Amino acid sequence: MLLMIMIMIIMLLWNEDDELDTARGSSRSSNGLDLTLPSDLNFMPTLGNGHLGYTVFGDAIFMNGVYNGPAGNSKRARIPNWLNITTEVCDRFGCATDADVAVNGTSYEMDLRDGYFRSITTYNSLGLSIEQRTYPHKFFNRALVYEVVATRSTAYGTRANSPQFLRLSQHPGNASDAFEFVVVSNGSSASGDYRTIRGRTDIIEFERFQQQPQEIYIIFSQSLEEPLQLEWPTWQAEVRHRIIICIDREQSVALKELQDVLQLNANSMLQRHTDAWHNFWDRDFSIELVGNVLELSQIINAGIFYLASSLPSLSTNQVNEPFYGLSPTGLGRGNLEADYQGHNFWDTEIWMLPVVTHFGFEYGKQVLDYRSRKLEAAKYNARSKGYKGARFPWESAYTGTEVTNPCCPEVAQQEIHISPDISFALQKFFAHSGDYAWVCDKAWPIAAEVAEFLVSRAACEEFRPVCHLLNVMGPDEDHPDVDDNVYTNAVSKIALEFAEWAGEMCGNDSTELFEKWRRVSDRLLILHDTALDYHPQHAGYVVNTTIKQADTILLGYPLRYDTSTTHLNDLRIYSNVTRESGPAMTWSMFATNYLTSSQEWLGHEYFERGYKDYVRPEFKVWSETPLGFEGSANFLTGIGGFLQAMIYGYGGVNFVRDNNKTTMILRVGMSPLNVDEVHVNYLRYARNTCRWVFGPRFSNMDCGVRSGAQGNFEMVQGKKRTLLGRSFNVTLVKGDEPVYISYLE
Ligand SMILES: *[C@@H]1O[C@H](CO)[C@@H](O)[C@H](O)[C@H]1NC(C)=O
Ligand SMILES: *[C@@H]1O[C@H](CO)[C@@H](O)[C@H](O)[C@H]1NC(C)=O
Ligand SMILES: *[C@@H]1O[C@H](CO)[C@@H](O)[C@H](O)[C@H]1NC(C)=O
Ligand SMILES: *[C@@H]1O[C@H](CO)[C@@H](O)[C@H](O)[C@H]1NC(C)=O
Ligand SMILES: *[C@@H]1O[C@H](CO)[C@@H](O)[C@H](O)[C@H]1NC(C)=O
Ligand SMILES: *[C@@H]1O[C@H](CO)[C@@H](O)[C@H](O)[C@H]1NC(C)=O
Ligand SMILES: *[C@@H]1O[C@H](CO)[C@@H](O)[C@H](O)[C@H]1NC(C)=O
Ligand SMILES: *[C@@H]1O[C@H](CO)[C@@H](O)[C@H](O)[C@H]1NC(C)=O
Ligand SMILES: *[C@@H]1O[C@H](CO)[C@@H](O)[C@H](O)[C@H]1NC(C)=O
Repeated sequence: MLLMIMIMIIMLLWNEDDELDTARGSSRSSNGLDLTLPSDLNFMPTLGNGHLGYTVFGDAIFMNGVYNGPAGNSKRARIPNWLNITTEVCDRFGCATDADVAVNGTSYEMDLRDGYFRSITTYNSLGLSIEQRTYPHKFFNRALVYEVVATRSTAYGTRANSPQFLRLSQHPGNASDAFEFVVVSNGSSASGDYRTIRGRTDIIEFERFQQQPQEIYIIFSQSLEEPLQLEWPTWQAEVRHRIIICIDREQSVALKELQDVLQLNANSMLQRHTDAWHNFWDRDFSIELVGNVLELSQIINAGIFYLASSLPSLSTNQVNEPFYGLSPTGLGRGNLEADYQGHNFWDTEIWMLPVVTHFGFEYGKQVLDYRSRKLEAAKYNARSKGYKGARFPWESAYTGTEVTNPCCPEVAQQEIHISPDISFALQKFFAHSGDYAWVCDKAWPIAAEVAEFLVSRAACEEFRPVCHLLNVMGPDEDHPDVDDNVYTNAVSKIALEFAEWAGEMCGNDSTELFEKWRRVSDRLLILHDTALDYHPQHAGYVVNTTIKQADTILLGYPLRYDTSTTHLNDLRIYSNVTRESGPAMTWSMFATNYLTSSQEWLGHEYFERGYKDYVRPEFKVWSETPLGFEGSANFLTGIGGFLQAMIYGYGGVNFVRDNNKTTMILRVGMSPLNVDEVHVNYLRYARNTCRWVFGPRFSNMDCGVRSGAQGNFEMVQGKKRTLLGRSFNVTLVKGDEPVYISYLE
């Protein structure tokens, strides 16, 4: 029934001639491998554990929060990919080459359930195979692992020409221009002494918030400065070897991690890793599809995997460092402009967070904590431009000050919606988690400062009760310097109202302050064209003008600001003028909005448009743009939009703050074409964990699993109000009205 999650590509390359013996020892490169892999190695899997990340075969390892470069040139500091190790089989005449490989071939496999990448190369005429595995350890999260297992089939064991040693070599790519590296220890044979390198970033981001360069220590279980030769006597059936690389800001932490890992044998070490991933899939989150939809199932679970790979491990050998947020292409990429330099954008809160929160509230909290820790920098960012409160930068990295690429200063100046976007995300997190204590502790301090910023940024008319946000850019970046972008104004109203509620709820008694915020919130202009009954995207927008991406339609989902017929007209009008080259999540938002307004066929159409052209076939890695356009790889933002369409669009669930309560809204489900059932394990709501199954015209939400509820739930359906108690099991079928389930603490 369950189409869980193995993506495997296996390519067999045939070679008519068995020219092995002659090929060995030569350096021929009749290279067949590239044919079996994505032609662009950017689309190899990007792996991570929240502390470290890298792209398989890429030239970089990155560490959470480590950036180099001044202001807009700050980007993730590239550590050469010393984990990019290959093993060759050799005898005294030389090593087998690709020509030998071609005799049988190499299979590449991304195992999502176990969380590792491996290749198996079969040297058929030598009667042996080499299995190579690489992963960032999910429990020992300072550790990166490379393992090789070479196996000889007995039939060939005594052949005279059978290989006698393995040769491991490193291919880390060019030297790094981000760090100055110093060898602290060469790792002499003395016990407990490992090759250790200290790296110090060259250029700080912004002096006021960063006094020192960043420093990291890299410790190798074994030096591969020179290729490593491992003896493999012909009578020995198998050789195993592992190389561990540990990286941390503290030398002692990296060293302890290495020592702890080496305490375990290879099997236990791997087991600790796969157990951690199994815990994620079995206890945190997975989506299983029933139906004839293997590929869609792979895409969904690969999406969850790649997103989760950039999040912190919640259970680790040593205490985690603070988390520096989710960047559009994840932790394993980020020294290129195409990788958004590893910065945080609104992508984090608006596109990824609504999915990440489903993995578990703790993940959501860690993502939002990054904003809490950067609140001072955001206040500086407002003050330095003459505004009050906190203005979060459009792009944020190590210090939390503005690091937008120097190419595009207007984006940083004008896309002020990032600050209310963060408040909106705070409110949504509350609506989902029902965590009142968190609101007062974490959300209110941010919401208050964002409200202050918005009030100081707004231009209110003297003789009319109308306020404007002038000279802004909305999500549609094709239109700079516009007034009253409708998305910006709507999300700002929500941010102001949330701040007022949070302040009152948390016992702040500054009524004057709240009145000031409410005055602006009430007066912010939401443009409406009465003739066509739609929202012009900004003042002066002319119908039929092409736009870059979803903007005004976001008033429906996710904002829930307007779901009336005006919104339906927005969908109709803007669907026709959105650029073909638009980013993936634009179509997912059309899909979600069509599905939530019961236009199922358009929903299907846009849902498919939102992923089919964006996912590369081999390892289900996402691109920012459709095939044929340049775009970023491992585009987590697109995954976020896609999974939102699945959960909030087809699933028909949402979470809202209803005055002082959190409410889950659930309508009867739909599902993508050819999908009979969608199983979500688990959906969390308030303190409960739910099993949720939906499909065409039904939905079952069973919220008693490992119930943690202290309070009670109450359900309203139409005019009917039912008290549900501490757990509930609700089924909706065709024709049923939506239910509103509230948590009463
Ligand atoms: C990493 O190793 C792979 C396979 O051996 C190779 O194709 C690739 O070029 C290497 N990457 C770098 C940056 O050298
Ligand atoms: C390749 O290896 C597999 C597994 O050992 C074997 O089943 C298959 O017959 C081999 N193919 C050739 C052409 O030798
Ligand atoms: C590596 O360095 C060489 C020589 O400076 C340069 O031509 C090449 O583009 C660099 N490769 C990458 C991937 O940056
Ligand atoms: C490591 O080895 C290199 C080359 O042999 C040598 O120059 C350097 O001084 C050594 N460093 C340490 C810390 O031992
Ligand atoms: C809102 O709910 C919280 C938690 O139940 C409670 O502490 C607070 O007093 C309530 N506030 C209002 C205004 O009802
Ligand atoms: C209420 O919140 C405002 C804004 O953060 C703050 O300046 C004020 O000190 C708070 N008042 C109380 C009584 O906590
Ligand atoms: C927008 O374009 C459509 C089709 O091209 C056309 O029918 C419609 O009149 C246009 N609307 C306006 C206001 O120009
Ligand atoms: C949408 O645009 C296409 C091509 O520009 C046009 O043919 C079509 O009439 C438009 N539809 C609407 C509803 O504006
Ligand atoms: C919840 O309802 C579903 C559908 O009616 C049923 O299959 C399931 O067993 C129920 N769960 C519990 C715990 O009663």
